[in-house]
Amino acid sequence: MDDHAEYVRAEWRKFHEENAPLAALASRIVPAARRVLDVGCGAGQELLPYLGATAVGVDLRRSGLVAGRALFREIGARVPSLLVGAAEALPFASAAFDVVICRLALPYADVRRALGEMARVLRPGGALVLQIHHLRYYLLRAWRARDPRELVHALRVIASGAAFELTGWQPGEAFLLLRSLARRLASAGVEVVEIDERDRPAPLVLGRRMVKGHS
Ligand SMILES: C[S@@+](CC[C@H](N)C(=O)[O-])C[C@H]1O[C@@H](n2cnc3c(N)ncnc32)[C@H](O)[C@@H]1O
Repeated sequence: MDDHAEYVRAEWRKFHEENAPLAALASRIVPAARRVLDVGCGAGQELLPYLGATAVGVDLRRSGLVAGRALFREIGARVPSLLVGAAEALPFASAAFDVVICRLALPYADVRRALGEMARVLRPGGALVLQIHHLRYYLLRAWRARDPRELVHALRVIASGAAFELTGWQPGEAFLLLRSLARRLASAGVEVVEIDERDRPAPLVLGRRMVKGHS
């Protein structure tokens, strides 16, 4: 098993210790979702609360999806559609989903294009739930780095995130700040409805796809 497959299996286990916080947030806006997409889904555990619906996950890396299919089978659950795909070019029609989830995948993507795509595939009034890596996450990683490689990685992301914040140019993996994320979401047509900062390095953001002509 490669490192990524191991990582997604660990996140799958973690999901079972938490109380599906992303699905809980989404249900404030869409109590009974029929079509749900998880972007950068890893093993796809965020789709577990939605197995009665049309549940789809996309991720760039096949190894996580393969691990995910095995994990759904292991617990005797229906396996959702887990597809290889990029957040920046989602292979779905506009307004195809009631709920779009993206847990800890945004910092690795082209944030502006990925947000545009998530907004496009979300129906008006639909819910977008993001869990992001805030600047605090990378500061903590730099502080706690156990070797020079980890430190350099954290510092590089901090530099890349700073460039993104200041110029709009994103050289690579980048931290996000809540205020500018809200601005970027608004220009993609999504209003921020709620922010859950209990996990301060990795807050949750709930957004609603605006209906054209209304806010
Ligand atoms: C930190 S993992 C989170 C995985 C999963 N959401 C979870 O919570 O367990 C980030 C995931 O995003 C995926 N990813 C990174 N960039 C992506 C992109 N541009 N489009 C789609 N998936 C991407 C990675 O392959 C990886 O599986």
